[in-house]
Amino acid sequence: MNNGNYFEMKIKAETCNESFIRSTVAAFCVALDPTLEELNDVKTAVSEAITNCVVHAYSRENSGEITVKVSLSGKTAIIEIRDSGCGISDVETAMKPFYTTKPEEERSGMGFTLMQTFMDGVTVKSEVGRGTTVVMEKTFVKNAK
Ligand SMILES: Nc1ncnc2c1ncn2[C@@H]1O[C@H](COP(=O)(O)OP(=O)(O)O)[C@@H](O)[C@H]1O
Ligand SMILES: [Mg+2]
Repeated sequence: MNNGNYFEMKIKAETCNESFIRSTVAAFCVALDPTLEELNDVKTAVSEAITNCVVHAYSRENSGEITVKVSLSGKTAIIEIRDSGCGISDVETAMKPFYTTKPEEERSGMGFTLMQTFMDGVTVKSEVGRGTTVVMEKTFVKNAK
């Protein structure tokens, strides 16, 4: 049974792990029979959240760990991505479109906006110096228009 099924993994926060995490989360969601488009939505959102852990939470000198947890409930996947990095002082501002603290690195400031666009719900909890947890939900509604 898919209902209540879950997995959790801990992995080094490195760019080279981004595609592995994205594919693993998507593969787990396949059990809920998503459309290709829905699965791509999940991949895009996960990719943005993981990139944020690598780029913002940790630095090149101070790498850390990402915890990814996915649980299935009915036709919904709940995806939690947690880091123990620098944290965000003002989450509301950070989530605004085009807001970025790294414009010099050509960040678009659209990461959170993309997560919100492609997922059905996004919650961000963060504490400065302790880390950030992003929880995203996606309900797969086959052939719904
Ligand atoms: N995991 C995180 N840890 C610390 N800061 C973060 C994290 N995720 C996002 N942020 C902050 O929120 C801002 C907005 O994130 P986002 O919308 O993805 O835009 P971008 O990554 O292009 O800057 C970032 O510039 C950064 O300051
Ligand atoms: Mg980003």
